[in-house]
Amino acid sequence: MKISLIVAVAKNGVIGKSNGQMSWHVKDEFKHFKNTTLGFPIVMGRKTFETLGKPLKGRLNIVVSRNINYRTDFEEVVVKQSLQSAIDYCRELKPEKIFIIGGGEIYKQAIPLADEMIISFMKFEAEGEIKFPGFDAGQWQIEKTDDHELFEIFRYERKK
Ligand SMILES: NC(=O)c1ccc[n+]([C@@H]2O[C@H](COP(=O)([O-])OP(=O)(O)OC[C@H]3O[C@@H](n4cnc5c(N)ncnc54)[C@H](OP(=O)(O)O)[C@@H]3O)[C@@H](O)[C@H]2O)c1
Repeated sequence: MKISLIVAVAKNGVIGKSNGQMSWHVKDEFKHFKNTTLGFPIVMGRKTFETLGKPLKGRLNIVVSRNINYRTDFEEVVVKQSLQSAIDYCRELKPEKIFIIGGGEIYKQAIPLADEMIISFMKFEAEGEIKFPGFDAGQWQIEKTDDHELFEIFRYERKK
């Protein structure tokens, strides 16, 4: 099971606002996110789930919260108490890959665990307090996979 992380990052490193709001709406980038993740389990932090407000269709949604009493209004959403237990849960389902979809707190913990990162670099700066954590680019083999008007997509594969 491949662990893939998917994120969109502004030029200044911003990925979102601390009140949960997204910092931009770029339709093409959402389309890329949807097409890439469709059919695979997605793992996200509780704050990101609450920003979305509902599960994303066509994917098993797994939300992590340290609060053992945390529940969502959606019975199809799986809640786990740690990132590791979310990943272990997925492993039992034997998918080809899973996607870690944020936010900042989850990305920070997931980068060391990821086999692959799919990063949309937005071609603009954005307002917001939540940033994508720094990482050692030397550990990754990097290829550009797509170029759009407002963003370009790079695929990072962890070096063996
Ligand atoms: N640009 C992008 O690609 C992208 C993607 C996703 C999200 N975002 C943005 O990111 C922001 C949200 O990020 P964030 O850092 O504030 O929050 P987050 O990572 O979405 O969620 C943080 C929450 O996840 C839970 N959590 C974190 N680590 C855990 C662990 N090891 N075990 C169990 N639970 C754990 C905790 O929930 P409890 O407090 O319930 O314990 C924590 O408060 C929003 O602005 C959103 O729009 C951007």
